[in-house]
Amino acid sequence: MNKFLSYSVFAFIALLASCDSSSRQEPLADVIDRGLKASTEQALLMAEELETQEGRLPKTIGKDGQLETSDYSWWCSGFFPGELWYLYENNPTPELKKYAEMYTARVEEVKHITYSHDVGFMLNCSYGNGYRLTGNPEYKEVMLTGARSLAIRFDERVGAIRSWDFNRQIWQFPVIIDNMMNLEFFCWASKESEDDRFYKMAVSHADKTMNNHFRDDYSCYHVVSYDTITGVPHKKQTHQGAADESAWARGQAWALYGFTMMYRETCKPEYLDQAKHVAAFIMNHPNMPADKVPYWDFDAPGIPDVPRDASAAAIMASALIELSQLAEGEEAKSYLDFAEQQVRSLTSPGYLAAKGTNCHFALMHSTGHFPGNSEVDVPLSYADYYYVEALIRLKQLIEK
Ligand code: GLY
Repeated sequence: MNKFLSYSVFAFIALLASCDSSSRQEPLADVIDRGLKASTEQALLMAEELETQEGRLPKTIGKDGQLETSDYSWWCSGFFPGELWYLYENNPTPELKKYAEMYTARVEEVKHITYSHDVGFMLNCSYGNGYRLTGNPEYKEVMLTGARSLAIRFDERVGAIRSWDFNRQIWQFPVIIDNMMNLEFFCWASKESEDDRFYKMAVSHADKTMNNHFRDDYSCYHVVSYDTITGVPHKKQTHQGAADESAWARGQAWALYGFTMMYRETCKPEYLDQAKHVAAFIMNHPNMPADKVPYWDFDAPGIPDVPRDASAAAIMASALIELSQLAEGEEAKSYLDFAEQQVRSLTSPGYLAAKGTNCHFALMHSTGHFPGNSEVDVPLSYADYYYVEALIRLKQLIEK
């Protein structure tokens, strides 16, 4: 089937699935249980498959249709161990704990990485969840070493953490919106080490991002590069989006999650306002499909015949669930309603893989790097991680 026709057919099936689920209205608790059960089954199959492949962690499905893995150094290495910890939190079996510990140990070397800003993603999701659930002091030491490695990338003059080291001829000091996600790690390190340097770096980075990454409509740029002498932006561009001025879907999701999390960590009202503005941009966007799983870019040429990004939907859902607990009244309800629709869609056959398929990832239809023709309409380890996080957040809310 022609690629664009196949996206149209998929969009129609996804819409039917979302209409069908809303007319039947399966109880939300059942949707959550189904999603967690399916995620657990797939994660255990994945864990068994990679058990003897020393140091390997799941990444995606390659162009040859086979499971693609990475070692600890890929930015996504912490998501699978983190997902296993969440699944263990939901269902504390010895088997899940064994695998959570095994795959967490595979990313320990990340603590020495100074060439990437992704140390927060890699360690906070894996060791962070492990430490939260077990209190293992060795986990804390790995994380604090990692936080000190990441801190090397903070530049006092710019007031932010440097994201990337490539493209130096074009970008003096690139900061990508994704980098907001690493600030949770610094907030944790500040509390655990009683060194408020980490907290100050996190707040400085968030302030800088709030002031420079956003347009008047509260959509955000992917990459802002700063002049290293003046600390002022000299370029605003994209890397994974459709155009410099477009709204790359996952970038908007990182912004929403990042400012929601930073409000939780700091109680600074300007971060809550920022998160609400970003939520409004996402939720009211005319190009948001009926099933609330965004196209890979809100401004992608060819909409609706373009791939979706289930990872962006999962990140948005998890963030909106948290935002619903930090906001009040009708606004809070609208965030929760939207997140519920996303979770229902992701838990429908249009996105949730049948047991034993999809190379043992839970979700289908994410897009990693469309302009690079890489990871287009595939499963991704972080889609599964944030999907499970959203399910658990929602479950805990219902139980409360
Ligand atoms: N760099 C993280 C992402 O692709 O969203």
